[in-house]
Amino acid sequence: MRVVILENAEQVSSRAADIFCDLIGETPDAVLGLATGGTPLGTYRELVTRYRGGKVRFADVTTFNLDEYVGLPPEHSQSYRTFMRTHLFDQADFSDRRCHLPDGTLGDYQRACEDYERQIDNAGGIDLQILGIGTDGHIAFNEPGSSLASRTRIKALTEQTRSDNARFFDSLDAVPRLAITMGVGTILDAEHVVLLATGSSKAAAVQSFIEGPVTAQVPASALQLHQRVTVLLDQAAASRLVRQDYYRYVESIQAEIEATHQTDRPSEV
Ligand code: GLP
Repeated sequence: MRVVILENAEQVSSRAADIFCDLIGETPDAVLGLATGGTPLGTYRELVTRYRGGKVRFADVTTFNLDEYVGLPPEHSQSYRTFMRTHLFDQADFSDRRCHLPDGTLGDYQRACEDYERQIDNAGGIDLQILGIGTDGHIAFNEPGSSLASRTRIKALTEQTRSDNARFFDSLDAVPRLAITMGVGTILDAEHVVLLATGSSKAAAVQSFIEGPVTAQVPASALQLHQRVTVLLDQAAASRLVRQDYYRYVESIQAEIEATHQTDRPSEV
């Protein structure tokens, strides 16, 4: 796991946008795994700015979002599809038919979940998956206790997650209780995973998933089992990490580490 501690949230967004743009520059038809929530918003803004400046285009990429609320039609103001259209898809040249989100309104959820997994497979798998993290250590909507081998399925949201996300709704009661989400195993299949965390409210979850044991009680800790994870943190989110000095030291000699690699694939820690 490569842990990169940056000055502030703007730097986190800009570094994440660099990772996207480098991939799309090399592979214009890359398959991107996308996330919702407040954390990736700065990255999406940066990508839109770079698109408007002619530095990147998205016409050939395929995207798969992590999750969607059950019961909200795609056009609902708080659906994750609306979120993605507002903040990214409609702001650039994404192809509508290649932008996928789980559908939270189909009656046959088992089939919808299997179809979503199949669509990811048919696209050749996810090249780059961006993630945020919940204050309880969840990734996508894989709440504590989720199987670390889980695939796309329905999950019940914890009260903590519902109250964290209530700020986007009129009231806590309006927050759905169920979501359809990629599983932890689905996420672990991505080629490169980039997790972003900013702000002190994420510091405890960040410390647990990076430095604690691998446990279903902290679903993000499963990323310790993945070969290529980059964690981009601001100072506040990194504040509880015990090995901060080591992570900073590794970044300070990154050029030296990369020079030892035959390929241009970024090194792992
Ligand atoms: C939701 C999403 C997650 C996201 C989390 C944190 O629960 N399903 O994918 O990581 O919120 O959101 P935020 O970035 O707003 O803190």
